[in-house]
Amino acid sequence: MAKMDLIIQYLKYFRKAQTKYDVHSPFLFDLITQVFEDKRKYPEYHKVEKLKKELLKNNELITVTDLGAGSTVDKGEKRSVSSIAKNASKSKRIGRLLFRLSRYFQPNNILELGTSLGLSSLYLAFGSPSSKIVTIEGCPNISKIAIENFQQVGMDQINLKTGNFDDKLVEVLEQIEILDLAFIDGNHQFGPTINYFEQCLAKSSHDSIFIFDDIHWSDGMEKAWENIINHPDVSLSIDIFHMGMIFLRKELTKQHFVVRF
Ligand SMILES: C[S@@+](CC[C@H](N)C(=O)[O-])C[C@H]1O[C@@H](n2cnc3c(N)ncnc32)[C@H](O)[C@@H]1O
Repeated sequence: MAKMDLIIQYLKYFRKAQTKYDVHSPFLFDLITQVFEDKRKYPEYHKVEKLKKELLKNNELITVTDLGAGSTVDKGEKRSVSSIAKNASKSKRIGRLLFRLSRYFQPNNILELGTSLGLSSLYLAFGSPSSKIVTIEGCPNISKIAIENFQQVGMDQINLKTGNFDDKLVEVLEQIEILDLAFIDGNHQFGPTINYFEQCLAKSSHDSIFIFDDIHWSDGMEKAWENIINHPDVSLSIDIFHMGMIFLRKELTKQHFVVRF
């Protein structure tokens, strides 16, 4: 999506966005006040952000295999580690939110599609260190650096699978009984996103939370997000513009919230 279209989407989001004062659901109210608005400075943030600072200074060039929808910024085959850290990783604000979501829900099993350098995997893992976490990355040279990063911060229990989501996801889900938290952050296209959602849904439970990145990134992603939130198994859905999250709890009335974040 062109930059101008994205700005228009953001303005539409901002106009619709609600705050905790507009919310009647106690579940959502708690989520907003205890997770979205939690301003505590967790020491784990520093561990991930110190690593990111180092990666931003790393000018090593690596050959990148792009199996996804591609990046709007990095087009070349060779990219510097610093440029990947700058363009592919989530912002500090979003990374910290991932940490707090993981901390709040304490999921037993976490699955991430799209590891890149492993920064979002680390936010998720630090939020709930006892979780089993599997992350999938298609580019072997990027995965190699992600594994080094996990070791550097003492999080080598993160299980990184290198390969195409289309092949690895089936294999990974076979090993998971219940998928408690999924973070879908790669191959942002309509068909693949719906396909990953449906595969994850087959392993979900009442408590599962699925998080989709870049829901307004393209028309295809807008359409995928619309399809997902309208799925009969989805009760609560939350749009915070950069990401969307869905819950399957049957006791919650089916509702879609655009939340200011
Ligand atoms: C936006 S980046 C992930 C960023 C990371 N989650 C973070 O915030 O630090 C998306 C990653 O998904 C990978 N990817 C995209 N499509 C893929 C596919 N079909 N199979 C495997 N990996 C894929 C890309 O190589 C890229 O590294």
